[in-house]
Amino acid sequence: MEPFDGFPHVLQSQQFHPETLERIFLVADAIRSAPERFSNALAGRKVAVLFNQPSSRTRASFQLAAQNLGATVYAESNMALFSSEVKGETPEDTARMFVEYGFDYFVLRLKQPGAITRVAEVVGRDHPVINAGGGIDQHPTQALLDLNTIWRENHDLNRRIVILMVGDLENGRTVRSLTYLMAKYPGVEFVFLSPSSAQMRQDLLDHLNENGRQYAVRLDACIGRVVVEFNPDIVYMTRAQLETIDDPGKRAQLEGDYKNLILTPDVADQLKPEAIILHPLPRGPELPQEIDGNPRSRYFSQMGNGLWLRTALFERIEETMKRLLIRIHD
Ligand code: NCD
Repeated sequence: MEPFDGFPHVLQSQQFHPETLERIFLVADAIRSAPERFSNALAGRKVAVLFNQPSSRTRASFQLAAQNLGATVYAESNMALFSSEVKGETPEDTARMFVEYGFDYFVLRLKQPGAITRVAEVVGRDHPVINAGGGIDQHPTQALLDLNTIWRENHDLNRRIVILMVGDLENGRTVRSLTYLMAKYPGVEFVFLSPSSAQMRQDLLDHLNENGRQYAVRLDACIGRVVVEFNPDIVYMTRAQLETIDDPGKRAQLEGDYKNLILTPDVADQLKPEAIILHPLPRGPELPQEIDGNPRSRYFSQMGNGLWLRTALFERIEETMKRLLIRIHD
């Protein structure tokens, strides 16, 4: 996969290098502090936001980000019901239509495996495609905003950081993208806690092995015990991805298995004072409202960071496209 240095497509989190990430984070801060300075950054651009899986935060923040930069946005939030997908049209053909109508950017959340990459191939390098969640595979911009939240807490990503990832690690795409991204930093140590029915998949563990990264796997253990064992700096909670599991027996089993994974106020208080609690949201029973007031909870500001991070991503892509165009015309 081509590394991302502002252009063209954002398909997987492993495209991003630490220096690029630092630049995006600094731009996100600059936009946050003076949004009006960037209000024309995407003027004249058309952005198609096309989703066929549910979304609240991701869709709203991408739409707002593009609008805040002056773009025209067309958003279809339920392609599976209201687009020609119902008639059997492929995402590639739908994207071809938007290219013909003069659209420049695509922000896609598609359940079909590999569909976002196929669209990127069809629309070409002058139509950036951003993966906003592809089936159970990846959600790279969520990983960017997760890492941005960690960076904003303590700008040094090169120190030793122990991250405990909890939940349905088999079907959750956010943990996959975040693991790929944080594996870029040699000081990060991963602890994967899940039910044995929903383990982190082997391809990711292979990736960590190949890159010499440290990790531990705990199956069916109680979260309190794992917190004591590893004393994590970050606890990344995730919900059971029940809607991705067809078999009712497996769904019921996963729901039952989650009882060990609830971050109760007692467990949260066992964390070191400077630890932070993250969750991509929406939450399930694993993240009770009682810990919203815990000083370590960051999931609401994490969600807020997503708006600025996605705004910065558009800005970086646009700047790079303009630079490349100038070079072509020179
Ligand atoms: C996540 C997703 O869609 O993968 N949501 C989000 O984008 N914040 C997490 C989830 O649905 O569990």
